[in-house]
This record gives sequence, C-alpha cells and structure tokens, in this order.
Amino acid sequence: MVRSLASAAAASLAAAAALLLTTASASAPTCGPNNPCPADSPCCSQYGQCGVGAYCLGGCDPIFSHQLDSCVPAPVCDGSKFNIDNLNGVTDIAKYLGDASTANWVSSGSPLEYNGGVLLTLSQGSVGTLLASTHYVWYGKISAKLRTSQGAGVVTAFILMSDVKDEIDFEFIGTTLNQAQSNYYWQGVLDYENGGKHDTSNTFDNEHEYEIDWQPDTLTWSIDGKVVRTLKKSDTWNATTGSFMYPQTPSRVQLSLWPAGLASNGKGTIEWAGGLINWSAGSPAMQNGYYYASVSSVDVTCYDPPSGANKTGDKTYVYNALAGTNNSIAITDTSVILGSLQGTGEEPDKGKAKASGTASAPSSSSSTSVPESVPGVSGGGNSDPNASGSSDQGGAGAGNSSNGGSGGSGSSGTGFSQGGGASGASGNNSGAAVARPEGIVGGSVFALVACVGAMLVL
Ligand SMILES: *[C@@H]1O[C@H](CO)[C@@H](O)[C@H](O)[C@H]1NC(C)=O
Ligand SMILES: *[C@@H]1O[C@H](CO)[C@@H](O)[C@H](O)[C@H]1NC(C)=O
Ligand SMILES: *[C@@H]1O[C@H](CO)[C@@H](O)[C@H](O)[C@H]1NC(C)=O
Ligand SMILES: *[C@@H]1O[C@H](CO)[C@@H](O)[C@H](O)[C@H]1NC(C)=O
Ligand SMILES: *[C@@H]1O[C@H](CO)[C@@H](O)[C@H](O)[C@H]1NC(C)=O
Ligand SMILES: *[C@@H]1O[C@H](CO)[C@@H](O)[C@H](O)[C@H]1NC(C)=O
Ligand SMILES: *[C@@H]1O[C@H](CO)[C@@H](O)[C@H](O)[C@H]1NC(C)=O
Repeated sequence: MVRSLASAAAASLAAAAALLLTTASASAPTCGPNNPCPADSPCCSQYGQCGVGAYCLGGCDPIFSHQLDSCVPAPVCDGSKFNIDNLNGVTDIAKYLGDASTANWVSSGSPLEYNGGVLLTLSQGSVGTLLASTHYVWYGKISAKLRTSQGAGVVTAFILMSDVKDEIDFEFIGTTLNQAQSNYYWQGVLDYENGGKHDTSNTFDNEHEYEIDWQPDTLTWSIDGKVVRTLKKSDTWNATTGSFMYPQTPSRVQLSLWPAGLASNGKGTIEWAGGLINWSAGSPAMQNGYYYASVSSVDVTCYDPPSGANKTGDKTYVYNALAGTNNSIAITDTSVILGSLQGTGEEPDKGKAKASGTASAPSSSSSTSVPESVPGVSGGGNSDPNASGSSDQGGAGAGNSSNGGSGGSGSSGTGFSQGGGASGASGNNSGAAVARPEGIVGGSVFALVACVGAMLVL
C-alpha cells in the first residue's frame, strides 16, 4: 500500500553530543550499556537519558530501559496515516500520549505550514525542528520530496531511525548544495566507511525526491527515481560478532533541520557542517529570522513483515529480546496509550487525571525529583541563555518545561536536543568514537562523526 506522507521528517537526532552534554538536565539519569534506567524513571530516550511519559514513546530504547516493557509498544506501519501536507496531523511532543490514531507526526521545535507543505525552521537559540512519525516502518519504501536549507552549519536530514538506533540516512549540508549524503548504522555502532556522497542539482533551489527502499535483504537510496546506492545485507556480515550490521528493526521516519554549526559543538562536527552558522539578520539563507527546509510530501509503502516474523497481532511492534535484532521483534495486538506524561509502558495510567480539568502534564511547580517527561526538551537545548524559545510556534517545552526537574543548565528551555549523546559521547569528536558498547549516541551524531572521519581519511 502506498502511504502518502507529505513531508515529514525525519530528523535526525541532530545536534551534537556537546550540545546535549552542556544542556542536558542535571537531574535526568543517563542510560546506556550496563547502565539501564532506574525503576522510577524507566525509559531510556534516544538521547540517552531516563524519564517517563514521552521518554517511553517514540525513540525509547528497550535495551537500556528499566525493562523491555518500559517502552510503549510501537504502532505498526500505516502509510495512510503519514500525510502531512499541512500541520493537521502534527502534534507537539509535549502533548502526545501515544495514540497514533490522533497524530501522524510528533514535532519538536517549530514546524510551520507553508504552501501545501511543511517548513522545518531553525532560529537562533533553538536546536531546530524535528518531525518523527508516530507509526513505525518495518521495511518499506519511503520517499520525501523536499528542498533543503542552505548556509554554513545548517543540516537538513531525512532518515529512518529505530529505537535501538538502526538508522538509514539522507543528510544535506547547507554549504554543499550539489550533494546528498547517505549513511546507515546498525545499533548506533559507528563505522567510518558507511557514508556515501551523491551529486545532484542544487538541493535548496530544486525540490528532489529522495527515496529509501528498505527491504530485509537490500537497502537502496534513490534520488529522483535514480538509484544512487545499494547495500546488501549480506555485505554487512560481521564474522567476529556473528551478526549482520544492517538496519533491521522498526523505525520511525524523521525529518529535521538542525544546527551542526554551533560553537558549542565539536570541531569536527562544525567542519563537517561547513562552519559556524551565520545568524546575522542579513544572511540571505535566512528568512524571517530562521533557516528553513521545506517538505512537500512523504510517501510510504509498507512492506509485509518478513517471513518468519513472530506475528500474533497486527497493531504494534514489540521487542521481546535484548539482542535488539530483527529476531527480537514481535508483531502484537498490545496497544498502550499513556494516561498522562507521567505514564510509562509499565504503568500507563500513572498521573491520569481523575476528573476533567486536571492537566495531565505535571505542572512546572515541583522542580525537583520529578522524572523528566519530554526527552530533549528539559533543560534547554541550546547554548544561548537569552533564547526566547519561540513558544509562539508551539515549540515543545518552550519556556517553563513541562516536566519538573529541568532547567538545570540555566537555559530558558528553548527547543529540544536533537542531538543524542550520553555516556561516552563527547562533544569533541575525538571522544565520540563510541560504538554502542561504550555509549549510545543519537543517530546523526554518529553520522556526523562518521562523515568527519571519512573526510579525515580522505
Ligand atoms: C565487528 O564487530 C566488532 C565488535 O563489535 C568490531 O570491533 C568490528 O569493527 C566489526 N567489524 C566490522 C567490519 O565492522
Ligand atoms: C554573515 O552574513 C552577513 C549578511 O549576509 C554577511 O555580511 C557576513 O559577512 C556574514 N558573516 C560571515 C562570517 O560569513
Ligand atoms: C532475521 O535475519 C536473519 C539473517 O538474515 C534471517 O535468517 C531471519 O529470517 C530474519 N528474521 C526475521 C524475522 O526477519
Ligand atoms: C513471540 O512474541 C511473543 C510476544 O512478545 C512472545 O511472548 C513469544 O515468546 C515470541 N515467540 C518466539 C518464538 O519468539
Ligand atoms: C543576554 O542578555 C543580557 C541582557 O540583555 C546581555 O547582557 C547578554 O549579553 C546576553 N547574552 C547573550 C549570550 O546573548
Ligand atoms: C513560567 O512560569 C512562571 C511562573 O509560573 C510564569 O510567570 C511565566 O510566565 C512562565 N513562562 C512561560 C514562558 O511560560
Ligand atoms: C577534546 O577531547 C580531548 C580528549 O578528551 C580533550 O583533551 C580536549 O580538551 C577536548 N577539547 C575540547 C574542545 O573539548
């Protein structure tokens, strides 16, 4: 079935580890190898921090969470739900409780409706905009028609990202407008050899259709219907570990625009991104005070589950083994919708309003020891303490965070951390050669590092 999603986005987790490290809430426990989340904040976010609520929804890493069922089951592929030619199907991450029938996309940052599509914006003091699909894809053909942003330090991304950090990327550097970069990761393990570069006509001026055809045994990247790269699963075999280092777990479609060129990021990241972002008002790459990428459509064809899949239902994907491989996935009828942002996979109804009136989100009052509930939002996400947070755009968690215990960095809480990063990740790329065993990092952090590495090698 063809699912038509208009533009959306993938976003890569963008920002660099440094960003996260400098802005992450001091109160959120971190998670990673040999360091699962504690019972009271059981869910390990894609950024390597523990919490409840939205931490347990998209991006929740089952391996590093308190239990496999801490993370909420992932809604199965349903392309018809992906349309986003406007913002009707887009819900702010701080308001989404897991009912994929109510939203096709969860947003962080400031998406804007524009001309039959959606703009991903990046303004000074923010970490950009991320749209992530509420439905997952477990093999499918996903294409996005988009125009990238432009300018030094500004990166546009269209990726697939799984909860255990299998990742398939298209990324675009704002200073290299005649090129798309492709990449893939298996469980977030860095490999400097995985990146590809593909010539195309100006990606800012021209809308192109970028397509990822993800099958159990082959992965193909295409631009405007022309295959630019093919990867065979068989070529990813690692004889040492006896595993295929191939993306193989249910993934969200993500579209994003993020600031790799921030002074607070690693030097290698900044260089990869073409330098520091120019925030001067006269910069021709900015309009209305922001950089932007535009997506006009996203189409998804869902493939049938692989033969041999453990299928007892047709509603959600669930991990039933810590290996985090294709054989750890079951397709079940277990659906979970949180009663509030205090809920978790284990206790979905926690914090649910008893009568009408009580907001589900914890108020901003209790400022200590309340678990984080919106990953990446708490504690800011940028290095500009004066950033206003553009709450007019519905930026997730702008201003007062929706979860207690945030703000440790002193930031005003603008935006979210697109960047992953946790134990072992260093803002400084020198320390970021982290394979999953040493530390988990959000996808594009790996992408960054990998690309930088590739450049150094060349
Ligand atoms: C295979 O896995 C081992 C252990 O994680 C790793 O050190 C090695 O680099 C991998 N080989 C390849 C070709 O990726
Ligand atoms: C930033 O953009 C402004 C306006 O276009 C320009 O005058 C200035 O030279 C740029 N700065 C850098 C470092 O490129
Ligand atoms: C998982 O991958 C292995 C190795 O390619 C394959 O033999 C097996 O059939 C796959 N299982 C599923 C459920 O896709
Ligand atoms: C299939 O998945 C279900 C639900 O997670 C699990 O209980 C069962 O053990 C799995 N079966 C196999 C053979 O892995
Ligand atoms: C923040 O605002 C204060 C007061 O307006 C100003 O002195 C300071 O330089 C600003 N800091 C930044 C990083 O813009
Ligand atoms: C933050 O909370 C304080 C106190 O509740 C309130 O005065 C202020 O307006 C809030 N700021 C935002 C941006 O919501
Ligand atoms: C980068 O990492 C190295 C090694 O950990 C450290 O010595 C250096 O100070 C770091 N540089 C920056 C800018 O953080």
